[in-house]
Amino acid sequence: MIRLGILVASDKGYKGERTDESGKLIMELFSRSEYEIVEYIILPDEREIISSNLCRQADHLDIDLILTSGGTGFSPRDVTPEATLDVIQRQAPGISEAIRQKSLEITPLAMLSRGVSGIRNQTLIINLPGSPKAVRECIEVIAPVLPHAIDILKGQTGECARK
Ligand code: MTE
Repeated sequence: MIRLGILVASDKGYKGERTDESGKLIMELFSRSEYEIVEYIILPDEREIISSNLCRQADHLDIDLILTSGGTGFSPRDVTPEATLDVIQRQAPGISEAIRQKSLEITPLAMLSRGVSGIRNQTLIINLPGSPKAVRECIEVIAPVLPHAIDILKGQTGECARK
């Protein structure tokens, strides 16, 4: 089982001024047997609040994979990448590169997402953009590699499959 945490960064969602669709979509897309959704939270776009909750999910809830949604753009309130960089120990740039590369085939606006990916102890954290459309497109890119990534992170697979 992969223990999944979903963290939505949205001032409006947090205040109840907007219904969060992205987090719910992530839940829906990962309601498969190999995933257990441990926590789904909506937070304001505050760097310190986001980073402390990332730490809590990783360190205290023993979550394997945290998917964040929102706050990756250029608005002054978009601080999810910074909050993520505050808590990861190792970056995993290939994941965010793949997301942007595939997304750019769909829309040039993909270059406006500053999302990062990285590892805190045995937890993988991946930033996704905020719209449900973007969430669906980005998850399509990363979903096939996630189980293997988590296996390696947890030391359950020694080697990558080789041809
Ligand atoms: N990536 C994909 N795959 N599809 C999209 O529609 N939207 C972009 C981008 N990445 C988009 C995408 C847009 S319009 C923005 S502003 C940025 O993500 C940042 O989004 P965020 O601020 O909601 O995180």
